[in-house]
Amino acid sequence: MAHRGAGAPGGPLSSEASLSRRFHRIIGNSPAIQAVKSLLEKIASSPASTVLLCGESGTGKGLMAEEIHALSDRAARPFQNITCGALPETLLESELFGHERGAFTDAKQLRKGLIEVADGGTLFLDEIGDVTPALQVKLLRFLEERAFKRIGGSSDMRVDVRVIAATNRNLEHAVEVGLLREDLYYRLRVLPVRVPPLRERLRDIPLLAAHFIESFNQAFHKRVRGLSRGALDRLSAHGWPGNIRELKNVIERAMLLTDNDQLTEQDLPASLAHTVAPSHRFELPAAGLDLAELERDLLQQALRRSGGNQSRAARLLGLTRHQLRYRLAKAGAPPLPSRS
Ligand SMILES: Nc1ncnc2c1ncn2[C@@H]1O[C@H](COP(=O)(O)OP(=O)(O)OP(=O)(O)O)[C@@H](O)[C@H]1O
Ligand SMILES: [Mg+2]
Repeated sequence: MAHRGAGAPGGPLSSEASLSRRFHRIIGNSPAIQAVKSLLEKIASSPASTVLLCGESGTGKGLMAEEIHALSDRAARPFQNITCGALPETLLESELFGHERGAFTDAKQLRKGLIEVADGGTLFLDEIGDVTPALQVKLLRFLEERAFKRIGGSSDMRVDVRVIAATNRNLEHAVEVGLLREDLYYRLRVLPVRVPPLRERLRDIPLLAAHFIESFNQAFHKRVRGLSRGALDRLSAHGWPGNIRELKNVIERAMLLTDNDQLTEQDLPASLAHTVAPSHRFELPAAGLDLAELERDLLQQALRRSGGNQSRAARLLGLTRHQLRYRLAKAGAPPLPSRS
């Protein structure tokens, strides 16, 4: 098996601009996504055989798996992908491991599984948290030894495959309640990547929206030039439980319905809440936090995002301008000019 070079992680290639060039399909330059991109870059060029992408639905795990593959020296070999949760156990098993001729009634001829087809390349196991216990045992053996048997086969097959698994479930919890084998969990999480939800990288919204507008311009033969300030504020105030997929869908809908050359608030669904949905409020860290400090930080972020416009900053925080000014004064910020 060829040794896979470790590349030059952390070298000059890791600058922000070069990361964006290399991961050109992963849009965003927030610190949160930059950190993920630089981790993905290191992983891509490393010999890592197993990677785990954890993140809510719609955060881009599928896209990231493709990008890891594309940036690796496996890129010329196959990228195979399977959604474990979508198939019943026996079908998933034969898709993955393949079967010998006559292994079961319908097995008229030998069929290679995805693991074999992906030899030299990457196998993306989506929704890994949905694999049944019996199959988990076989998967663990494959992950540990890179060896497996086709169904009905007696000899071991060996392959060189990088496995990228993804889940939007809390796998620790799955282990606790007995749905996931602990040994498989530890094998999977040798290199975990936490893919942050969109609400933790709201400042990527303008870039993401521009990207989707451009691609729908092409698809729908339109010439929309961007978002109005009001529309952008509205997008920035939403909690995005469906993450980037939800944003993409919102832009698609707006692009289909609009008659303007700019998307405005009227083009956005009324259901797009002004406030963050309760289920997506900040979670109190286990170690607690300094509320006054957090408030100061949020006030500053809102002002930065609104370019210093107090009315817009207030709207982002669900406050009136008066309340915003009061809180700023309380937080010890220098007095602001009274323009809005
Ligand atoms: N950073 C990004 N830049 C551009 N497009 C993105 C980005 N992240 C996600 N997308 C797009 O958003 C959509 C949803 O992403 P993807 O399917 O990769 O999410 P996922 O995390 O795999 O979701 P699920 O858990 O539901 O499978 C896709 O169309 C993807 O191309
Ligand atoms: Mg996916």
